[in-house]
This record gives sequence, structure tokens and C-alpha cells, in this order.
Amino acid sequence: MPDLATVKVFRYDPSRDTQARYETFEGVPYRDRSVLEVIHLICEERDPTIAFREGCDNGTCTGCAMVVNGEPVLACQQAAEKEMVIEPHPKFKIIKDLVIDFDELRERPEI
Ligand code: FES
Repeated sequence: MPDLATVKVFRYDPSRDTQARYETFEGVPYRDRSVLEVIHLICEERDPTIAFREGCDNGTCTGCAMVVNGEPVLACQQAAEKEMVIEPHPKFKIIKDLVIDFDELRERPEI
């Protein structure tokens, strides 16, 4: 029996939702996986509607920037934990769920 995680994922679609919510996924295999791999797994096996960015998978593009248990991380470089709350980076406008608007970085480079 593999070690299994409880993962709370921030969900919000500004085009439809009046407020954000968290969706909890129990029993998610997480050992030897990155946070990004765990999100992939949840999308493949539980809920394909979670929005998140994919990218280089090696820590250089910053496309997977998000917040895990209150700490800003690159999800592709962060080891998954047994209890995780996964949220979008708070300094950017939310496009949907974990996808943030990087265009703001060009317009407000002080972010
Ligand atoms: S996917 Fe490029 S930094 Fe994580």
C-alpha cells in the first residue's frame, strides 16, 4: 500500500464563479513525485478540469509558480508532501484555478 496524500486544490473560474473554493482529493500517491506530477496525476485520474500551467519541468521557465502550504514554489521542482494545500501565486491575477496572468509581470515588473 503506497503512502497516500491529501491534496486541497484551489479552484476558481472568474468567468463563472462568484468566489473561490478548495477541492480536496484524498488517497493520492505522492512519494517520489513533484507537486506538478501530483497535479498531473489528479487531472489524469480524478478531475481533468483543473487548470494549471505546464512548462520546462526543469525549473527554468517559472510557468509552474504556485503556492504550496503557504510557500511560493516551482511545482516541478518541489517534492510533494503528505498534506498539501495548492494555490495560485497571490501576486498575480487568476486566469483559472492555478493559472496566473504572467502578462502583469511585463506591465508591473516590480512584482
Ligand atoms: S515547469 Fe518550468 S519551472 Fe516548472
